[in-house]
Amino acid sequence: MRTSSRFLGALAAAASFAPSALAQNNEPVTFTDPGTGIVLNSWGLANGAPQTQGGYTFGMALPSDALTTDATEFIGYLQCAAKDEKGWCGISLGGPMTNSLLITAWPNEDTVYTSLRYATGYAMPDVYSGDAKITQIASTINSTHFTLVFRCENCLQWNQGGSSGGAATSSGFMVLGWVQAFPSPGNPTCPDEVTLEQHDNGMGIWGAVLDSKAANPSYTAWAAKATKTVTGDCSGATPTDVVGVPVPTGTAYDYIVVGGGAGGIPIADKLSEAGKKVLLIEKGFASTGEHGGVLKPDWLAGTQLTRFDVPGLCNQIWVDSKGIACEDTDQMAGCVLGGGTAVNAGLWFKPYALDFDYLFPTGWKSKDIQAAISRVFSRIPGTYAPSTDGKRYYQQGFDVLAGGLSKGGWTKVTANDAPNSKNRTFSNSPFMFSGGQRGGPLATYLNTAKKRSNFDLWLNTTVRRVVRDGGHITGVEVEAFRSGGRVGTVNVTNVSGRVILSAGTFGSAKILLRSGIGPADQLQIVKASTIDGPTMISNTS
Ligand SMILES: Cc1cc2nc3c(=O)[nH]c(=O)nc-3n(C[C@H](O)[C@H](O)[C@H](O)COP(=O)(O)OP(=O)(O)OC[C@H]3O[C@@H](n4cnc5c(N)ncnc54)[C@H](O)[C@@H]3O)c2cc1C
Ligand code: HEM
Repeated sequence: MRTSSRFLGALAAAASFAPSALAQNNEPVTFTDPGTGIVLNSWGLANGAPQTQGGYTFGMALPSDALTTDATEFIGYLQCAAKDEKGWCGISLGGPMTNSLLITAWPNEDTVYTSLRYATGYAMPDVYSGDAKITQIASTINSTHFTLVFRCENCLQWNQGGSSGGAATSSGFMVLGWVQAFPSPGNPTCPDEVTLEQHDNGMGIWGAVLDSKAANPSYTAWAAKATKTVTGDCSGATPTDVVGVPVPTGTAYDYIVVGGGAGGIPIADKLSEAGKKVLLIEKGFASTGEHGGVLKPDWLAGTQLTRFDVPGLCNQIWVDSKGIACEDTDQMAGCVLGGGTAVNAGLWFKPYALDFDYLFPTGWKSKDIQAAISRVFSRIPGTYAPSTDGKRYYQQGFDVLAGGLSKGGWTKVTANDAPNSKNRTFSNSPFMFSGGQRGGPLATYLNTAKKRSNFDLWLNTTVRRVVRDGGHITGVEVEAFRSGGRVGTVNVTNVSGRVILSAGTFGSAKILLRSGIGPADQLQIVKASTIDGPTMISNTS
């Protein structure tokens, strides 16, 4: 139900802070919500402040012991600007947009809706999958503003996809981020499917000092007023929160390389080095910090490093893989920029000649590929001592095993100096790391490719199938895997253009089958599928 917001002017005048710089310590203003009597610490920008139109205020009340024992929940207050009752606003409970629990709120008809979100990049944030919960206490909507008083349980520690963080109320200080926008959200009655356009009415980070009024003995009684759960109605919602960017018209590429992993990155680099116009299309987001990745545990905050950069975090993929591992294969694979090379253990062995000589066809025997192996190892030499100081740590396990193996007649070798000595030998492990960080194709081939004007990289974009005229490929059909990804059809150069599928063992096969290329019996199965059947190119074409 709509209620009056006549107190807004008074609050906006009182709460005239400038939440702009991380280092800034903003003392709170004590604010009593007139509708509920709840007393909060508040910080805000006055109506008329240059940073945002209409002003913005956030308030927080905490359990009575929160300044000595870290709280897990709080009562929040949002007062945000709107135009004709439309708009959205939010708060980042960690400060930045990425790797923090985000609360978004927007008015629709007579209800203020909320959605807990989590962003790994600067695109539409994902639904937060943790157990945080919002229950509403009161809300108001008028043509220029909306307010919400709410309880947020399990909101002060967060964890999604291997990225974790939290706010410690006992420190008496929090880093918070504010954001607001006027465009009306899409799917407004369905919080899980809501689509937000990028904030156009300001954003920033501020340091929020908590004073003694933040924690209140009445907290439990106030929290008991939180009885309204707004679940929304998703019956009319468009079933996706992914907003794609149309493929630019009139562009064609000599080569489209599908999948930015171990195979795709080097081939895209080599083709662009040869002067070809190359497009590399990758389904996932940027992984390592050097390429714009941001997913990191809180102890890496303030560094450019992400969880993908730190060699010791490679096993995280077996613990927290949501949003990183491919969800369309039943084997572990990385669906981020770098593919397997962004998540793997980085073991970097020169290949064993017999692998090629035994299994591979004429022209692909070990002698045929020696020159290529040398070129790869000249670009990615690898290391046996991956730490930044060049020392090996915790060698006790290796020493025990090495002692036993030596006594048993095994020989210690340097693995990549003796790639064919695989019988009763052992070695320290070579890794494709350098400078204490993940190296490999991301740190080498992708860097040289990105410097060329004839190379383009599209992230967050899935190739659905190749477009072909009989046996002749004319382009690929793409869809946005995440917001910001491309949607439409991108062409190869007429007649001479080529598509290279390097989307992984399963990913490339999936694209081929979706394109009507493959064994007849398997194509029949794809044809019967409700997702791919109706649009699959006929296997007879
Ligand atoms: C956890 C783990 C540990 C490993 N450890 C090691 C190791 O220590 N040493 C070693 O040598 N090897 C290791 N491997 C294996 C190695 O990483 C892989 O063999 C190698 O990455 C495969 O290369 P690829 O180019 O075929 O595929 P990938 O590297 O998987 O690349 C495929 C790329 O295509 C993208 N993609 C998929 N479908 C589409 C689509 N439709 N449209 C657009 N893009 C798409 C994916 O997101 C991915 O980025 C490991 C692998 C894993 C998963
Ligand atoms: C479609 C949705 C969104 C897009 C495309 C988007 C995009 C961006 C971009 C590009 C920036 C950097 C701007 C700059 O540095 O100049 C940014 C910053 C920010 N965003 Fe978003 N955003 C979106 C949604 C959200 C949401 C829902 C929240 C919070 C609830 C949020 C909070 C912030 C904050 C606090 C900042 C400033 C701090 C930082 O740079 O991390 N954003 N956003």
